[in-house]
Amino acid sequence: MDGQAQIVVERVNHTYRPPRGRPVLALSDISLDIRPREFLALLGPSGCGKSTLLYLVGGFLPIEAGRILVEGKPVAAPGPDRGIVFQHFALFPWKTVRGNVLYGLERQGLPRPEREKRAQAFIDMVGLHGFEDSYPSQLSGGMRQRTAIARTLAIDPSILLMDEPFGALDAQTRSLMQTELLKIWQRSPKTVIFVTHDVQEAVYLAERVAVMSARPGRVKAIVETKFPNRDPSILRSKEFVEKVDQLWNMVRDEAIKAQEATGS
Ligand SMILES: Nc1ncnc2c1ncn2[C@@H]1O[C@H](COP(=O)(O)OP(=O)(O)OP(=O)(O)O)[C@@H](O)[C@H]1O
Ligand SMILES: [Mg+2]
Repeated sequence: MDGQAQIVVERVNHTYRPPRGRPVLALSDISLDIRPREFLALLGPSGCGKSTLLYLVGGFLPIEAGRILVEGKPVAAPGPDRGIVFQHFALFPWKTVRGNVLYGLERQGLPRPEREKRAQAFIDMVGLHGFEDSYPSQLSGGMRQRTAIARTLAIDPSILLMDEPFGALDAQTRSLMQTELLKIWQRSPKTVIFVTHDVQEAVYLAERVAVMSARPGRVKAIVETKFPNRDPSILRSKEFVEKVDQLWNMVRDEAIKAQEATGS
């Protein structure tokens, strides 16, 4: 095992056992090492277990087989070292945008003026200035998603688990948020596991991309996607376009397998 790894996923399985219906083997024998301060993207067909893997690393699901270590310690529960942006936002419906972003900061025990300043800075960063007093039900899907992102980033965790964090955003907002995320990652280096369906986004943001196989998910390939810089002009370079193509083909193969398996 790589002594340098910050997060070690070793031979992990996960089976969902719904109260009604058959058990579902979501992850089978999955192993993955993530280095400190690495930006890793996870790509794979719908249903291959990407969210399940993030929940396990986040400590939201029990580890039934295999082990997950963070900084050498087995994951047993959620912790302040790991911030998660859930695929379905998971905001508190009874709290405003400000209340949602403040929530994590209150738990950290920051003094009130500092909490409020920090919450406001992240609300502004995600472009929700003017919506501080709105409730989630009064926001669009993209605005809810941005609230969830602000809430998690404000806590400044050393590990960021992001499950399709920009999925509900329009192309322009998405591009702005990508730039902000990269700035944060460069300014206060963090380890990021970033789930996306967008191959171009994965190649642009991440240093390595792990491609997962169709369910039961495991890591099919790991592709290095480091470029000399992250200027958006690289999106048009030959190397970048070739990398996107290469990954597209891998993901498409798995998506076809996933479809065949469900018989659709
Ligand atoms: N609570 C649950 N009960 C039963 N099966 C579940 C449950 N949650 C997920 N699954 C199954 O586990 C598998 C993996 O689900 P998961 O949500 O991790 O996939 P995913 O890769 O995140 O998919 P997507 O890209 O659509 O978000 C799927 O086949 C799904 O049907
Ligand atoms: Mg998912």
